[in-house]
Amino acid sequence: MPHVVFDKSNRDLTTPSSCDGVDFNFIAKSYNFTQKKRKSEYKIAVKKDEKEFFLTLKPKDEKYLLKADKITRVTPVDIVKDAINSYAKHVEANIVFTNTQSFNQKIKPDQKYLKNIDFFVNDFKTDKEIQIEIGFGSGRHLLHQAKNNPNVQFIGLEIHTPSIEQLLKQVNIQNIENILVVNYDARLFMEFIQSNKVGKIFVHFPVPWDKKPHRRIYSNAFVNEALRVLKIGGTLELRTDSRKYFDFCTNLLTNLPKGKISIDINRDLAISSKYEDRWKKQGKAIYDVLLYAEQEDKDIDLNYDFTFNEKIEFDEIIKTISTKAVVDEDFFIHIEDIFTIEEMPNSGLIQVTFGSFDRPVNKYILVESRDAKYFQDSPLPTSANIKAHNKLKEMLTK
Ligand SMILES: C[S@@+](CC[C@H](N)C(=O)[O-])C[C@H]1O[C@@H](n2cnc3c(N)ncnc32)[C@H](O)[C@@H]1O
Repeated sequence: MPHVVFDKSNRDLTTPSSCDGVDFNFIAKSYNFTQKKRKSEYKIAVKKDEKEFFLTLKPKDEKYLLKADKITRVTPVDIVKDAINSYAKHVEANIVFTNTQSFNQKIKPDQKYLKNIDFFVNDFKTDKEIQIEIGFGSGRHLLHQAKNNPNVQFIGLEIHTPSIEQLLKQVNIQNIENILVVNYDARLFMEFIQSNKVGKIFVHFPVPWDKKPHRRIYSNAFVNEALRVLKIGGTLELRTDSRKYFDFCTNLLTNLPKGKISIDINRDLAISSKYEDRWKKQGKAIYDVLLYAEQEDKDIDLNYDFTFNEKIEFDEIIKTISTKAVVDEDFFIHIEDIFTIEEMPNSGLIQVTFGSFDRPVNKYILVESRDAKYFQDSPLPTSANIKAHNKLKEMLTK
């Protein structure tokens, strides 16, 4: 996590202001909402390269820690490093530690191919067949597939930022034009792809999570979504060295009401991934489980309006709103924290976790002079998020 520690600064940050291409829009201060004793914390709203996010500023052992805010993460991480560095320069901070100095990369990752999830919700269209690789890691398999299938549009899903940056570099070096990359949890991603569009979904050597099976990629919900997006004859392909994961998945797939499966062991592929090489060297068996889609599915509607139409009396609401979670049958809402924007009445941030129990979202609601919106962007239109949003509206306008 990029951060700097400084012991003093010669200037206070004023907002709005700019430094080295970074805009500093406002500062929000923790409102001691939970009544727990703790030091003040600030969220600094910044904008760089059209991306808006927060930096967190915390006093720490008579010093200050300035770091990336976890909820409003952006990629590539260099944008966050630049914002931290320009804050430090802007306030003339006396830095005692930093890990934000970027090394000069000869090849910059090609952002044309890195998309955020909103792109898939709002703008993604292709006439080509889609193939998806989940957790592409070093990217060897994805790059090989993309080069050998120029007529297929590949989507690579990863949650590990260095792997994404490494893949984007290779995309650039090898002039590959048919890969789009997204930093997103694969268990949620499928909800945003139209039905019957995908030829193959590769899940190669997923983390087995033997002790925490609920964190596995494969679940009933995931497999059903995979079947919906797959066209007839399309496949969901698991390749794993973990016997437990293999057993878990075959059990899950054989109990499905639709789809057909095939199983293989030690099948040779044209390309061997980094993990595969490692397991083969150790003499481990490699299992393949393929699920074939056999029927057409209905299309989905991705349009949902997440606006807050009514004015929010922020200064009143924050005094009365409950710190306890609201729990419903298929969603929950938990207000985590509140930040106020000094000198701006009825303005501030509400930090909230909500949605489904196994895949909750963390969001800020930004209220500016009674007008509220989600910061940086609206939640994704899942059924649990829609229900939680409606409940939140009710709670904030009471
Ligand atoms: C064991 S590695 C395998 C990488 C690659 N497929 C290979 O065979 O070398 C698993 C990868 O899945 C990624 N991953 C884990 N959970 C994920 C999720 N929920 N969504 C997307 N990627 C995930 C990890 O970051 C990691 O890079």
